[in-house]
Amino acid sequence: MKVIAINGSPRANGNTRTALDFMGEVFAQEGIEFEVLHIGSKLAPCTGCFRCAKTHECTLPDDGLNEMYQKLTQADGVVFASPVYFSSITSGMRCFMDRMGCIDMNNGRQFRFKVGAPLAVARRAGAVNAIDELIHYINYAQMIIPGSLYWPLAFGNKPGEVAQDAEGVQTIQVLAQSMAYVMKAMEAGKAQIPVPELPRKSFTNFIR
Ligand SMILES: Cc1cc2nc3c(=O)[nH]c(=O)nc-3n(C[C@H](O)[C@H](O)[C@H](O)COP(=O)(O)O)c2cc1C
Repeated sequence: MKVIAINGSPRANGNTRTALDFMGEVFAQEGIEFEVLHIGSKLAPCTGCFRCAKTHECTLPDDGLNEMYQKLTQADGVVFASPVYFSSITSGMRCFMDRMGCIDMNNGRQFRFKVGAPLAVARRAGAVNAIDELIHYINYAQMIIPGSLYWPLAFGNKPGEVAQDAEGVQTIQVLAQSMAYVMKAMEAGKAQIPVPELPRKSFTNFIR
């Protein structure tokens, strides 16, 4: 069983990474493998070309997105973690979700019924909005979203400060515990309850 976390911060070893490491400790106790993919600021934005509908991979110049997508399709759980930039997720996380989401909705929806969790780290404000943005994608991908004792956020500014937010750290740890529980419960139930068939999606635009 494996969880992959996307670190949406341009800073590889900032507060988002520290927060994810708290989750990693819980996953280790639960016997679950954990890997953090740092997307940094290298990803180009989606151009809306929709070539991925045919190729099932992004055809923009290779910046590692397709490799990350392939890795995520093998995971049982995914954490989408971002620092808050101007009350929002980072532009890197936006690029990642747009491009990966576009591939996946045209590739049999590989994230259906995986466990997905949002996580936001902020200095002071905007974390709930960032969580909402992350949830919009996780929910669209038909992932199962576990909760914690509070919304999945923690506070910190300079790298490492997030470790001082005791309530935030507990929230993150319990989030990891909830993910582990749901992943294990779903794994146990899979043999008895088959995943429903993927229906053909109706696209009805508001144009007559
Ligand atoms: C461009 C920029 C915008 C930011 N905007 C906000 C914000 O709107 N609200 C907030 O609470 N913190 C904001 N911050 C602070 C970061 O969210 C905070 O420092 C966070 O811990 C960074 O995480 P990291 O160390 O993983 O990069 C901003 C930081 C930067 C660089």
